[in-house]
Amino acid sequence: MTQSFRITLLSGDGIGPEIMAIAVDVMKQVGSQLDLRFEFQEALMGGVAIDETGSPLPEATLKTCQDSDAVLLAAIGGYKWDTLPRHQRPETGLLGLRAGLKLFANLRPATILPQLIDASSLKREVVEGVDIMVVRELTGGIYFGEPKGIFQAETGEKRGVSTMAYTESEIDRIGRVAFETAQKRQGRLCSVDKANVLEVSQLWRDRIIDLAADYPDVELSHLYVDNAAMQLVRWPKQFDTIVTGNLFGDILSDAAAMLTGSIGMLPSASLGADGPGVFEPVHGSAPDIAGQDKANPLAQVLSAAMMLRYGLDQPAAADKIEAAVTQVLDQGYRTGDIMAEGMTAVGCKAMGEAILKALA
Ligand code: IPM
Ligand code: MG
Repeated sequence: MTQSFRITLLSGDGIGPEIMAIAVDVMKQVGSQLDLRFEFQEALMGGVAIDETGSPLPEATLKTCQDSDAVLLAAIGGYKWDTLPRHQRPETGLLGLRAGLKLFANLRPATILPQLIDASSLKREVVEGVDIMVVRELTGGIYFGEPKGIFQAETGEKRGVSTMAYTESEIDRIGRVAFETAQKRQGRLCSVDKANVLEVSQLWRDRIIDLAADYPDVELSHLYVDNAAMQLVRWPKQFDTIVTGNLFGDILSDAAAMLTGSIGMLPSASLGADGPGVFEPVHGSAPDIAGQDKANPLAQVLSAAMMLRYGLDQPAAADKIEAAVTQVLDQGYRTGDIMAEGMTAVGCKAMGEAILKALA
């Protein structure tokens, strides 16, 4: 029997529409091979939504997302909208989507592909075999804590305030996702905080230690965030799964991504307790190369694979897509961001065609 899934596509800005088109073609082909039917519906988010509706996340878009089985997002933002007031910026739409769908768990894998080791800025022996999963808390911490704002201080000057806060239940639910993720990987979990200075981190560490009793098969360690940043570039292979709060996760996941040489290769998943997840590349909208057929569509294609695996429970389809990506890299196809000597330079569309051929 044909299984059918409703997927909301948020192509967004910059290179978003180009890379999304490739991912959709890839999903259609895999769907026809495995008897899966995808009903795609497009919705507006980010700068394009600001231009058309005045809001980066129109009500209708959130509703469409809530009513679907999964959301595939490309990238949002661009210079054009950077100077708008905060509530009208593309990034505010993204935060609204995360909050609106209650996506508290953000999974960001940083896996080095053997074909791309030389694209890393670190030495081969340091990055060969790196396979890290960053589990970032996504709907709490300093991104959402109250009070927040720019206020008038008693001295007459302005005072900017953001608040880093976590409740026990917020820590526990992300902690459990992280322990379970580690169980499915190499069984090692490193919790990253700043417990030597911040009270919010002290509570974080206490709760993670308490939770560990339920996961005796996971080896738990702790690092302060400054040390974690250093260890990531010193010897990244020491890490398996990392769990951390919203802000530290934002920063460390970029660093982890760069270990692999190309941020253009990395997908991510944002999940809630139930309801649709959002799947998106780690990279941004790259407005400088938009519309020039130069973008690397592989992170978008791998995000579709992650959606099939974690959002729609279709591991066979995910495996097929991931194998096709491996195959085109083995064949030597490279977009500009991962180009190396002796390889075949291709644009976004040609890379998409190569994947379709690999799937056939
Ligand atoms: C990310 C981005 C976002 C974040 C921005 C665009 C709001 O950096 O997804 O990592 O800070 O979470
Ligand atoms: Mg970030």
